Amino acid sequence: MKFDTKVVRATIEPDPTTGAIVPPIYQTATYVLPKVGESKGYDYTRSSNPTRAQLESVLAALEGVSYATAFSSGLAAVDAMMKLFKPGDHIVSSDDVYGGVSRLFNDILTEYGLTFTYVDSSFPEQVEAAVKPETKMIWIESPTNPLLKVTDLDAVNKIAKKHNVLFGIDATFATPALLRSVDFGADIIIHSTTKYISGHNQIIGGAVLTDNEEIHKKMKWIQKSLGAVPSPFDCWLTLLGVRTLSLRMERHSKNAMQVATFLENHPKISSVSYPGLESHPRHEVAKAQMSDFGGMISFELKGGIPAGIALLNNVKLCALAESLGAVETMITHPATMTHADVPKADREARGLTDGLARLSVGIEDVEDIIEDLKNALEKV
Ligand SMILES: Cc1ncc(COP(=O)(O)O)c(C=O)c1O
Repeated sequence: MKFDTKVVRATIEPDPTTGAIVPPIYQTATYVLPKVGESKGYDYTRSSNPTRAQLESVLAALEGVSYATAFSSGLAAVDAMMKLFKPGDHIVSSDDVYGGVSRLFNDILTEYGLTFTYVDSSFPEQVEAAVKPETKMIWIESPTNPLLKVTDLDAVNKIAKKHNVLFGIDATFATPALLRSVDFGADIIIHSTTKYISGHNQIIGGAVLTDNEEIHKKMKWIQKSLGAVPSPFDCWLTLLGVRTLSLRMERHSKNAMQVATFLENHPKISSVSYPGLESHPRHEVAKAQMSDFGGMISFELKGGIPAGIALLNNVKLCALAESLGAVETMITHPATMTHADVPKADREARGLTDGLARLSVGIEDVEDIIEDLKNALEKV
């Protein structure tokens, strides 16, 4: 079955009792047991639920792996994955990761004895140089939030295998529609399903995917033990959203390419980062490893912070909002919004300036999106 068919049909069968083409929601906390010690496969929804199981099997099928575990947010998925490690373990991580992931790593997990080294993973040699005897995982976000840095996943996979450490990828920006992380040797793949996978700003969710049975067994146990599970209704809404993933990613990518080109040629913009532009330093890598470039763009205005703020306050169609990956175009100021908790010095070290704006290009008519940006830029 081809990917675009899988997105619509994979593992989703009509309800056997009624034939309903949209499977029902099992919105239940518990299950009546036939007898002590017997069950019909379910005993309590924190442990398992048929709607969540359906979502997990769809996500695994799309990713091309055997196993998925769903969580109540992308961050809960990252946190659950990090429970695979013990005090003293070391992680090499991309420097430009989502601000909430930086906060989790630096402010919480270091308190539990994990250590992190951040590198610009678009230079694989920096990744290798950071590996130590106690390193247990190389953690890559690609493309990154918010700078859209792209990592050569083949090169990093070779480093991970050489040093016998796990290779984890946060592929939230790319989605399995544009990037087959497992083909690049990823042992663990994370998605914030809040974003493109659900696609309509309707839920908060996350997932951990793997082909490794041992990791999966641990993830299931961690899922049940931590309890950060998504509600059956959220799983059902995600299942509805994901069916249009291929179509949406095609349109997001097409629109973003035109918006990025418009921004790159605008006299008030000093720089644009979009993997689809030839000016992107890893454009060739992105072209080789992704089937398209996605809907995320970041850019800087010539007038720095005041200009950035003026732009964000003057857009009308583009929603000034946290989050990304939904049908509506959204614009964000990372320094005061998504990455506000990352200390300014750390933000600057990774190239995230106060004047940076991040755009999640939606699936509206691209002429309207460009018109909105053009009008707002006139007021800057
Ligand atoms: C790349 C990336 N990973 C993880 C997360 C966390 O996901 P959530 O907001 O669903 O907890 C985000 C959120 O923006 C993200 O952009």
